[in-house]
Amino acid sequence: MTGKVVSVSGLTASVSGMLNITGIGDRVTIRSLDGRDLQAEIVAFQGELATVMPFGSLEGVGAGCSVSFPVYDAEQRRLMSGGALQVNNSWIGRVVDPSGTPIDGKGDLAPGGRTRKLHAQPPLAATRARLGSRIDLGVKAMNLFTTCRKGQRLGLFAGSGVGKSTLMGMLARNTSCDVAVISLVGERGREVREFIEDDLGAEGLSKSVVVVATSDTSPLMRREAAYAALTVAEAFRDEGKSVLLLMDSVTRFCQALREIGLSAGEPPATRGYPPSVFAELPRLLERAGPGPMMEDGTAGQITALFSVLVEGDDQNEPVADSVRGILDGHVVMERKIAESGRYPAINVLKSLSRSVPGCNSDEENLLTRESRKLLSAWGEVKDMVRLGGYQEGSDPVADAAIQIAPAIEDMLRQSKKEKVGLEESFLDLQTVMSPIMGNMNE
Ligand SMILES: Nc1ncnc2c1ncn2[C@@H]1O[C@H](COP(=O)(O)OP(=O)(O)O)[C@@H](O)[C@H]1O
Ligand SMILES: [Mg+2]
Repeated sequence: MTGKVVSVSGLTASVSGMLNITGIGDRVTIRSLDGRDLQAEIVAFQGELATVMPFGSLEGVGAGCSVSFPVYDAEQRRLMSGGALQVNNSWIGRVVDPSGTPIDGKGDLAPGGRTRKLHAQPPLAATRARLGSRIDLGVKAMNLFTTCRKGQRLGLFAGSGVGKSTLMGMLARNTSCDVAVISLVGERGREVREFIEDDLGAEGLSKSVVVVATSDTSPLMRREAAYAALTVAEAFRDEGKSVLLLMDSVTRFCQALREIGLSAGEPPATRGYPPSVFAELPRLLERAGPGPMMEDGTAGQITALFSVLVEGDDQNEPVADSVRGILDGHVVMERKIAESGRYPAINVLKSLSRSVPGCNSDEENLLTRESRKLLSAWGEVKDMVRLGGYQEGSDPVADAAIQIAPAIEDMLRQSKKEKVGLEESFLDLQTVMSPIMGNMNE
């Protein structure tokens, strides 16, 4: 079937002849004046016309260009409208674009794999497994203060340059999982290369699939980089695997949705984000998590970390607000800590995991609770101590904090190449806390 371009403006074109057979999210192909086929998506209908947005640029498209599109029956619409991917094991170790085309120059991917819709639904709540066992993240500060279970979803709140990419690389290399799926949305090309070569490294890449759409690609491509990563993660999850999903960043995903929404004629609301952004965001995040229960009673899991860009102390940033409400915990990285030279620059007092205390032993909970108390007290008296205004003995908690907290902070340092398992993390904390808690194994 074909329609016709009636007008082109900004990032979109209006097309006639699409009524009653196409819907929002359908893919269409525009034949440009110089004979190229451009992929586009229907983002709105206005009166008799469909508004379509291209995955690339609209260069060479004018009024009168023909637009072709598949006509789906109900079943096909359910299975493949809006794009689909076929994922298999040959994807592991590779870097692909959101359409599943390799961009690492290592040749084609092997064909095969079930056809999976890019915009799939999350598993039904009733059939969904519960969170799995504790997962070893290999990063001390997180193992201790945001202990996670398989299938848990966390937000990573950080400004630029505080060590987000480094931490994600460490997690991809160190976490005990079967596959890591990494989605890079809207980063610059140079940053992508640095991440893959320096932060992830050959070792990390060998068990990862990296899905990339750089900042110079169209908003549709950037949005699709997020959906494609979820689709890849779901494919491995449905094989019963434990998958780690790392997305950098959800903020850029929302910015892509904002560009699409505004081009489709939606009104801007909170900070210029149209309302549809905050309806679509939960649909993306919800897809991570435990998979459906399989016949043998087990389930694959997608444990996920979604990064959110926060600049300064902007508490009213709508994306951060919305993400914080949806996920099961958050990790906060701070510039001040990075500037003091402590990496990873995680503020453990501001970070939390909702599966704690349930997933830790009583001893472990006591240990982390007491050390949080000391870190918090240390934060309050630190300046006074430095200025010589604190009188030893005025407060027993402050006294303990002065004795121990700097050692806890020091213990949380971890170099890029180091891996620290769950057991070892708790042992390290126990050693530091032993002057006030005694050795708990005795
Ligand atoms: N664990 C670490 N150990 C030592 N230095 C680190 C660590 N994490 C980050 N850094 C330093 O911080 C800088 C910025 O890190 P990066 O991960 O690129 O930040 P972001 O992705 O947030 O912009 C790096 O160049 C590195 O020198
Ligand atoms: Mg980075």
